Amino acid sequence: EQDSQLIVVSNRVPNPDGGSGNQGGLAVGVMTALQQADGLWLGWNGSIDDDEHARLEHYDFDGVRFATFPLTENDHKTYYTGFSNEMLWPLFHYRPDKVEYSRENLEGYLRVNQRFADHLMPLIKDNTRVWVHDYHLVPLGHYLRETGADAPLGYFLHIPFPPWDVLRILPDYENLLRYLSAYDLIGLQSDVDLKNFKDCMTMALDAVEHDDGMLEVDGRRFRAESYPISIDVQAAQEMAQAGVTSSAGKRLQRSLGDRPLVMGVDRLDYSKGVYKRFQAFERLLEKQEHQRGNVVFIQISPPSRTDVHEYAQLRTTLERVAGHVNGRFADYDWTPLRYLNRGYSREAIMGFLRMSRVGFLTPLRDGMNLVAKEFVAAQDPEDPGVLIISHLAGASWELGKGALVCNPYDIDGVADMLEQALTMSLDERKTRWRTMMDVLENNDIHHWSQNFLDELMDVRLNRSAT
Ligand code: G6P
Repeated sequence: EQDSQLIVVSNRVPNPDGGSGNQGGLAVGVMTALQQADGLWLGWNGSIDDDEHARLEHYDFDGVRFATFPLTENDHKTYYTGFSNEMLWPLFHYRPDKVEYSRENLEGYLRVNQRFADHLMPLIKDNTRVWVHDYHLVPLGHYLRETGADAPLGYFLHIPFPPWDVLRILPDYENLLRYLSAYDLIGLQSDVDLKNFKDCMTMALDAVEHDDGMLEVDGRRFRAESYPISIDVQAAQEMAQAGVTSSAGKRLQRSLGDRPLVMGVDRLDYSKGVYKRFQAFERLLEKQEHQRGNVVFIQISPPSRTDVHEYAQLRTTLERVAGHVNGRFADYDWTPLRYLNRGYSREAIMGFLRMSRVGFLTPLRDGMNLVAKEFVAAQDPEDPGVLIISHLAGASWELGKGALVCNPYDIDGVADMLEQALTMSLDERKTRWRTMMDVLENNDIHHWSQNFLDELMDVRLNRSAT
């Protein structure tokens, strides 16, 4: 195994022009994993080019080899915007109200997955393992097998897996499940996602679960497990310390004085629950007069997927609500809500998280939420902040014993929880933080990728043995 080659495939690769902080969990988590593995990362280069036969461009960045290619305008519209982000994203986040489906988009999705397979096939050698990431690339494994690839194929889904009766909203959803059965190992973020996945396989495709835990569909055997993704704890700690003393960190500190900071960081996405989060903050100011002139809430939301209508609309809505809260409560020397519609360097963000009394993360549905883990790692052990996390985020399963776990739909409940966090004693903050930190130290990003890749090899060995 030592000299086996790892190829990672995902739609998005990290931006070599510098992290503007809107990359999302996949780019951050997978980058860290690959830096250890001497692997190759294949993906979309982020640009639009009308040459559909554009060749792969190879380059090195931050210790990892990349091979990327552009998408045509039509591919981008159908595969990325249309099928991935107007169909699969809302559906998998339990939001059928936001789903848009068209056959044209589905065709684009399949076509681009085939193109990924065409780019990938020549790179696969005898000792190659392939690890495919996220909802953009469900059919890729199937196309690789069709072209004759026999390599171990792993797949990890970074977002939630919906229950069967929700998945059924997607026309032809059985095929999506069939494509997944082409992989040897399928990783999901939590046990709930795993359960939903197995249910779907059973209900739709009559999957059989064998005594050894392997699933079987149409004669193909594969395994599904949950592998909660994590972060590089030590790197996050170091970056947070550096961030506090960076010029951004100092400027923020100067502007705060000794006011307590509440902080949220999310791509501008409806699944993150920022609208209700603003309402809960407004409720806090309504109920707790002593917080007026005191608490400062900074929400950082870099724009994301701006071609999708729902995202453009959300931007307008949040601007309105932020303006409303400030219009209602601000004073000449105090702005309660600072809503920042742009990205910052990772170092600055980690520093800001360390300076926060409360990490305020209330998604309506989230596969994991790595910002919650970053917030925990960023804290000063002598004076740690309090994490408020939604019970609908994957991260709550692991961090729930130390965090304050909220229901983001319960505006009053969240407002009360904010007050509880802002007034919590140092002793309690330390105890809660230690509980969460233990979890992170036992499952950091290196464990995550190691566990997945070890299991992938195991599944293959078992398969060859039978
Ligand atoms: C989530 C998804 C990733 C995606 C990221 C940013 O974390 O799981 O696959 O890359 O959001 O979204 P974008 O559409 O900009 O790639």
